[in-house]
Amino acid sequence: HVVVIAVDGPSGSGKSSVSKAVAARLGLAYLDTGAMYRAATLWCVDGGTDLTDQAAVADAVRAMPLEMGVDPSAPTVHLDGRDVAEAIRTTEVSTAVSQVATNLDVRAELRRRQRAIIEAEGVEDGFSGGAGIVAEGRDITTVVAPDADARVLLTASEEARLRRRSLEVHGAADASAVEATRDQVLRRDRDDSTVSQFQVAADGVVTVDSSDLDFEQTIDAVLAVVAR
Ligand code: CDP
Repeated sequence: HVVVIAVDGPSGSGKSSVSKAVAARLGLAYLDTGAMYRAATLWCVDGGTDLTDQAAVADAVRAMPLEMGVDPSAPTVHLDGRDVAEAIRTTEVSTAVSQVATNLDVRAELRRRQRAIIEAEGVEDGFSGGAGIVAEGRDITTVVAPDADARVLLTASEEARLRRRSLEVHGAADASAVEATRDQVLRRDRDDSTVSQFQVAADGVVTVDSSDLDFEQTIDAVLAVVAR
């Protein structure tokens, strides 16, 4: 039996680092679906696609040559053969990604690719896991893999999320760095609100609130859900 673990959560909840660690701990593959939406955004921006033209964006994404590497110790994102791990994290991409991610044809295309990767459990790129996969994002527990063996909604207070995000982006979490992060994070929460709602966990999804947990404690809390 191939194990599928689905983790959803908002920006700054720690879902990427925690999911990666859980996958490594369990010897599973790891899929960052947010990186796929970011890659789709970069592909459109670099290709000069008008982001307000929904049909053009959908066409571009359907033709996007994207390869996701699912080894949790070294996950990779290649776009047309180019390593775009850093290029998909720029402010420009972070600012534009919700516009691409709310396009329903884009979601259908990426959902199809995500399911194919989950079903292949990472075997395709030579990652030797093969036992299963941890997939994280915003609609994995509800839409992409509602039948997953374990489904976790990783939440955190707004204060904790802004502090973490600030550390990631600015390398600091003093008042001015947190303030600089606030607008971006809260605007993206709002722009994403049609595709992801985190107020209430869907049926059968276990909420893990990481506000007062450190990294190791959060990993343990997710592993405890998996062991249920
Ligand atoms: O930077 P952060 O961890 O908050 O987000 P991410 O996981 O890199 O995802 C970037 C963006 O992709 C989100 O803001 C959503 O617009 C979109 N996304 C989505 O719509 N569905 C997913 N399953 C994952 C990400």
